[in-house]
Amino acid sequence: MHKQSKHSFRVMEVKYYKVIDSTNDEAARLLDGGLVEQNSSFVVRADYQTDGRGQRGNVWRSNNAENLMFSYVFFPKKVLASDQFFILQAAALSVADYLKSRGLPDVKIKWPNDIYCGMRKTCGMLIENAVSGRFIKHCIVGIGLNINQKVFPESLPNPVSMSLLTKKNYNLDEEFETLCKILEQKLTDAEKNPNELHKKYLENLLGLEKTLIYRANGVFFKGIIKNVDNRGLLTVENAESGETGVYDFKEIELVVPEQQKNTIGF
Ligand code: BTN
Repeated sequence: MHKQSKHSFRVMEVKYYKVIDSTNDEAARLLDGGLVEQNSSFVVRADYQTDGRGQRGNVWRSNNAENLMFSYVFFPKKVLASDQFFILQAAALSVADYLKSRGLPDVKIKWPNDIYCGMRKTCGMLIENAVSGRFIKHCIVGIGLNINQKVFPESLPNPVSMSLLTKKNYNLDEEFETLCKILEQKLTDAEKNPNELHKKYLENLLGLEKTLIYRANGVFFKGIIKNVDNRGLLTVENAESGETGVYDFKEIELVVPEQQKNTIGF
């Protein structure tokens, strides 16, 4: 079994593990087993994951105790399953705001919910929602934020950490607490003012009205993001033909050319 210790983070419970398979999986197990207080937010955090999961079935690898890996679980009051993109926007904006508040340069949201500094990935998220009828029952917001790690596997296309960008070393507990407070606030606000949230998400979006390279259906093209709608669908205009396409998650990806990888202030 995993070693588990608990300590409190304000009103929210934090379940902290030295090692776990995946904090998202542990959060799901706790929820399924009825091992947590109903309708009460909690966080599962680990120093190391043996089976960290990323989007598109990828693995998420992170050095031991160098970065933040946690799953923030909350119970929206009345969010329709069809409106779940608002949760994703609130989570992405929380990390973007947090990074800006810590002085990181050129922070942007890469659709749908990676967080970039310049053209490099600082944070990835895996959001898993459970639905009951028409409404969301609970959300597991899994966050992997690169903080103090200096060396990354060669196989990763464009990783970066806060430390590599600012040359500082961070206290993970302090950064965790600051970020959780922002998440708590933004996820609560999301239900109250979804239009404002959507506006801010677009303002922070990488590639809005800019020409970047994309790949869809195996074809590379220069594209300009025109919009993201309330369901999260992405509208991209082909910069050469002028045609627009609307893409769902996993149907299109941004391609970061080698020479742009170290670009800040794009
Ligand atoms: C991605 O960019 O592909 C998403 C990465 C999400 C990683 C985090 S780390 C904490 C949580 N537990 C997991 O197994 N995954 C998420």
